[in-house]
Amino acid sequence: MKIVIATGNEHKKDEIKAVLGSEFDVVTMKEEGIYVDIVEDGTTFEENALIKARALKKYTKEIILADDSGLAVDALEGKPGVYSARYAGENATDEMNNEKLLSELKDVPMENRSAKFVCIMVLILPNGEEHLFKGECKGSIDLRLNGQNGFGYDPLFIVDGLKETFGELSAKEKNKISHRALALDKLTEMLMNNKC
Ligand code: IMP
Repeated sequence: MKIVIATGNEHKKDEIKAVLGSEFDVVTMKEEGIYVDIVEDGTTFEENALIKARALKKYTKEIILADDSGLAVDALEGKPGVYSARYAGENATDEMNNEKLLSELKDVPMENRSAKFVCIMVLILPNGEEHLFKGECKGSIDLRLNGQNGFGYDPLFIVDGLKETFGELSAKEKNKISHRALALDKLTEMLMNNKC
């Protein structure tokens, strides 16, 4: 089953491929020859995921998958939220975003650093049907960067029940418990039952 994903983020692509498994032929929009500039101007993860998925609709008849995700920190009233990728500014790197997050939380003790990763996946089937799936992963923000694996805020995020950050877990371990994996598990179940 071929699925075109509305992302250029290689880390997201790898995680999606790993969770979906070999039953699915996951290709990026660029690999499918689709070069479209998507303006993510929604105010929620749901809106942005729909914007990304719908942007590809007129370019392909294959199954389309879009992911919008981010980090919501309780002490920051849900920030960076939908602005997670550009928390430290328009072309911010992961390092800059992590540095800003640490600085915003510098006076916040460990017990008040709760946070969650959220992922919304939107699937558009060839018949035009749209389906939304949500995955959430609760945890807290570490006092310093730990680990080199993953991407984004992974070196700062400690999932509830573990001592290591996502940045210290292997891809296999992260892909069992992450917000993205949880949303993808629901999506896979629907696709397998639908056999589209
Ligand atoms: P998006 O590409 O607009 O969905 O932005 C997602 C942003 O949220 C990324 O650039 C990261 O900063 C952050 N993010 C989402 N998922 C993860 C994850 O699994 N690990 C670390 N950071 C993530």
